[in-house]
Amino acid sequence: FDAVDIIRIKRDKGTLSPEQISWTIDAYTRGAIADEQMSALNMAILLNCMSREEISQWTTAMIASGERMDFSSLGKATSDKHSTGGVGDKITLPLAPLVAVFGVAVPQLSGRGLGHTGGTLDKLESVPGWRADLSNDQMMAQLADVGAVICAAGAGLAPADKKLYALRDVTGTVEAIPLIASSIMSKKIAEGTGSLVLDVKVGSGAFMKDEDMARELAETMVGLGKDAGVNTVALLTNMRTPLGLTAGNAIEVEESVEVLAGGGPQDVVELTIRLAEEMLQAAGVPDADPAAALKDGRAMDVWNRMIKAQGGDPRAALPTAKESEVVYAAADGVLLELDALAVGVAAWRLGAGRARKEDPVQAGAGVRMHAKPGALVRAGEPLMTLLTDTPEKFDRAKEALADAVVIGPEGDRPAQQLVIDRI
Ligand code: URA
Repeated sequence: FDAVDIIRIKRDKGTLSPEQISWTIDAYTRGAIADEQMSALNMAILLNCMSREEISQWTTAMIASGERMDFSSLGKATSDKHSTGGVGDKITLPLAPLVAVFGVAVPQLSGRGLGHTGGTLDKLESVPGWRADLSNDQMMAQLADVGAVICAAGAGLAPADKKLYALRDVTGTVEAIPLIASSIMSKKIAEGTGSLVLDVKVGSGAFMKDEDMARELAETMVGLGKDAGVNTVALLTNMRTPLGLTAGNAIEVEESVEVLAGGGPQDVVELTIRLAEEMLQAAGVPDADPAAALKDGRAMDVWNRMIKAQGGDPRAALPTAKESEVVYAAADGVLLELDALAVGVAAWRLGAGRARKEDPVQAGAGVRMHAKPGALVRAGEPLMTLLTDTPEKFDRAKEALADAVVIGPEGDRPAQQLVIDRI
């Protein structure tokens, strides 16, 4: 095959054969297709789409570019959750130990944040001593012993995706449904989980701002999972406003620990329990009561063991930011909107996120919210506290928040459903 012929086929809205797709992914991973050729192909795919068969073959080829993990020797059902990324989305932290309470092993491979969405590993690294990098043997041992592990994907898992994602990131080709679906699902299928629950975010703070696009992404991913023998379910959930009252790193760990202690913000608790029910059902444990396991300390016990197993000290004080600044309500009324994207960008600019993959993040930085949509507020009341070690960042964070808040009369409040649909 020839890379230029393959680009021309997608440019002219044609269909690639399974052999052409396998060759393309393999040749790109080996370095036989140049970055500029792959960029052109990605853009043609973004503009002209791929058929279900092409997406399925593209995913299979990405899986075949690396190793496949196998947890069958554990003798337990396995389940994993993947969120397409949002603001204040710390659900993995309470969810993984909660599901493990019921004897289902949770091999949660997670990523770091890039742009305005946070990364689970960045959040957990604010726990003193905690390590994200485990060997496959360490991961297996922890799954057998504790039942839950949250760690970085090893270099051997879907290497084609690592190379392709970095290229898409700098060529404006992240937002293509075939490429997102195959990227996410190749990693989850190669990871070897028996069942998978996808949390596909919809709204300003998500990749997919629009519900129809989110639905198409969810349906595509559920189809790929089922084709590969992974019992897969997707929820479409609201990402128009942040989840919980914190967006950052250490402050999100603190909020997750509140949830594990039986408290915490209502939306975080509700989504954690709903996703736990879906994971347990998908793994063949339909009658569990995850709400009870948050209230009675069983989920907290697994959390403590999970953090310790990865070198962390669950009792240690979490780092805090050196400087803070309060944002006040400008009027009396009901908080109608608190925009997820604006809060995410503010947290990112305060130092909670990174602009380039190599950048460090500040553990204590972020945004603490004091009210969520639906709350009554009075002019002059604190709405948010901005946190950073580098106070010169306050001005740009406040710029990001300029239009984030809408306060108005009660009747104008749009209905906001947390779980929009199940696919
Ligand atoms: N997350 C991924 O892992 N891949 C994508 O393409 C987009 C989001």
